[in-house]
Amino acid sequence: MSEQLVAKNRIESLRAQIRRHDRLYYVENTPEITDQNYDRLMAELIELEKRFPEFCSPDSPTQRVGSELAGEFKTIKHAVPMLSIGNTYSYADMREFDERMKRELGLGVSYSAELKYDGLAVSLTYVDGRFTLGATRGDGEKGDDITANLRTIKNIPLFLENAPKGTFHVRGEVLLPLKELERLNKERLENDEALFANARNAAAGSLKQHDPAVTAKRKLTFVAYASACFPAFDDLELLTAYKKLGLPAASPCRICRDIGDAVAFCEEWKEKRFTLPFATDGIVIKVNSFALREKLGATAKSPRWAIAYKFPAESAETKLLSVSLQVGRTGAITPVANLETVRLAGTNVSRATLHNFDEVERLDIRVGDTVLVEKAGEIIPDIVGVLKDKRDGSEEKIVPPDKCPVCGSPVYTDPEMAAINCSNVSCPAVLKRVIAHFASRNAMDIAGLGPAVIDELVDKKIVSDYGDLYAIKGVNWLAFSKIGDKSAANLDHALETSKKRPYDRLLFAIGIPGVGSATARTLAKSFPTMEKLASASLEELTAVEGIGEINAKGIMSFFSNARNLEALEKLRSAGVIMEYREIEDVPKILDGKIFVITGAIPGVSRLEAAATILKYGGTVSESVSKQTSYLITEDLSAKSSKIDKALELGTQIISWKELALMCGFEPPEPEIERQGSLFDDLIGSKEEELAKRKMRNAAEKDAKPETKNENADPETQGDLFGDLF
Ligand code: IVH
Repeated sequence: MSEQLVAKNRIESLRAQIRRHDRLYYVENTPEITDQNYDRLMAELIELEKRFPEFCSPDSPTQRVGSELAGEFKTIKHAVPMLSIGNTYSYADMREFDERMKRELGLGVSYSAELKYDGLAVSLTYVDGRFTLGATRGDGEKGDDITANLRTIKNIPLFLENAPKGTFHVRGEVLLPLKELERLNKERLENDEALFANARNAAAGSLKQHDPAVTAKRKLTFVAYASACFPAFDDLELLTAYKKLGLPAASPCRICRDIGDAVAFCEEWKEKRFTLPFATDGIVIKVNSFALREKLGATAKSPRWAIAYKFPAESAETKLLSVSLQVGRTGAITPVANLETVRLAGTNVSRATLHNFDEVERLDIRVGDTVLVEKAGEIIPDIVGVLKDKRDGSEEKIVPPDKCPVCGSPVYTDPEMAAINCSNVSCPAVLKRVIAHFASRNAMDIAGLGPAVIDELVDKKIVSDYGDLYAIKGVNWLAFSKIGDKSAANLDHALETSKKRPYDRLLFAIGIPGVGSATARTLAKSFPTMEKLASASLEELTAVEGIGEINAKGIMSFFSNARNLEALEKLRSAGVIMEYREIEDVPKILDGKIFVITGAIPGVSRLEAAATILKYGGTVSESVSKQTSYLITEDLSAKSSKIDKALELGTQIISWKELALMCGFEPPEPEIERQGSLFDDLIGSKEEELAKRKMRNAAEKDAKPETKNENADPETQGDLFGDLF
């Protein structure tokens, strides 16, 4: 084959791979490879296209790196472009940067140094103090309008009292706290969904959700570090003003007299950053004075007045002790590396996924090898290489299994997925994972059906598919050594309630290959009954936006499997809902209304309550102010500063039931009769109770002098991430 032809083939293959990873990363938020490996593919493609310009094409991924992919959001043009900053890993470069500044300005310069937050850069537009628009950085010129999602972030104020008149833009980063990433990944593991590789991807994924209710569930947080059109003299003044206005200003921010101070700040945070609740990947050093920044200007890409020092990639050497085999829900057998525990980026690492046996071969990794582990974006450890010169000959090759490690059945290879699979459709390991997925929170949400119970159900052959779950009733549970009377009753109740879960949750739960919760929702709308979906043709399936041919084939093969149909039949006869019931397209009755919730609402979690309000077009805020339209509470006599504030301001106070009446949804049945509750159909008595409370408050106020901050909510007090300083 000629060199040209080889290059052409490779270019095409690279483009296909990159497009797929772009899609996984930008659209589906489930990256499969590390950024580093992605960069490697891209670098190779750029290089080849340079060498063989005859194969350049406007639709190559090199021509539009990651842009417009999650493109259903409205595109907006930034009033002032959002630039990026030049990176360096060396202090020598920082000193050179300092020399350049001095040369250009002809004087010594003071800098501000801040953490380089590793999340998603956004711009928030405030008009006369009101948060009117929020957008992603995008390509710097244009970004996506993600206002609805940003509004769900609790520390982004929707209104700034005492803000400068007119329009200004607050620039900063949306972060996902590391604890929240851990929680999310744990949940995704339960649901057999791909894990987020790092907090940045998770933050980006959460902000690109088309349903703000999903964003609201992720505990995102915002930090403000820059501005456009905000009247301030330097960074210190800006951040102080932000703080005063109630914006979460970057902290720490050190004002450095010279570059030596800035280097010291970088050194200080190199290790200390691991104590932070969020991810940082370096320090940003900026000329402090805004007038000097103006003078220095910018190149097309980045300002001349800033440089980003990146912390060195954290890697560590350790030994591969053994390899375990894990059998997943689809039967795929994954090799997992058991490592000698090593300290890396602030955590102990003792396991790492080897992804698949192709990767084992590519690395030529052997048991006993000394390996190099890196944390891709700080979270998931990745084995990036083997130190072959440290071998002493005792290392053992890793042989792909020919039998399932759990049930001993033969395995088969799926070339498309580079995976070795157990061939036994009733492999207990697979069945356990399938049932755990079926019962998981985002699927049928069967509380109490945890791993121990599932193990027993499968091991004792009580269930052979999820359809059998609904046949176990009452005393039958008691046949289990681990289940008592109360748990049995709870399980009965949980199973009964799960039958009424929305149809899309069922579609997610039954484990159709490639169907995550988002795809399940799309399918539920396009094929409103299970029969319709089961009999859909390839053309009908691929006609649905977001369903590709591989997806469609997976769905068809699922419904052509007799065992699956049998399990579905059991669900149907148990009375599980198998059709779409319109709930999504509700009128936006609460548009423009701001709600605050105080106290518990029986039968509705805080998140559900917020999601409901958002669904009907309203917004939820943390504290009562003049802008609040309604305060929601179930208990007017509760000790709550929010109720008192609402009374003081004359804000309307309503119950969840009243909100339900307003919007026209069914309020939850109170599980236990709430005795003496003020809102049980006795709206009249509400006024009385409020009047009484108002009088009590007035009397107390007279008796006690007011102390500062007494009424403030603990959440709205203090610094953004606790007191770092
Ligand atoms: S100042 C010119 N300060 O890191 C833009 N940026 O390439 C002025 N970043 O895209 C931004 N932490 O989004 C600034 N403390 C910080 C930052 C920060 C993170 C982001 C920024 C930029 C990227 C640098």
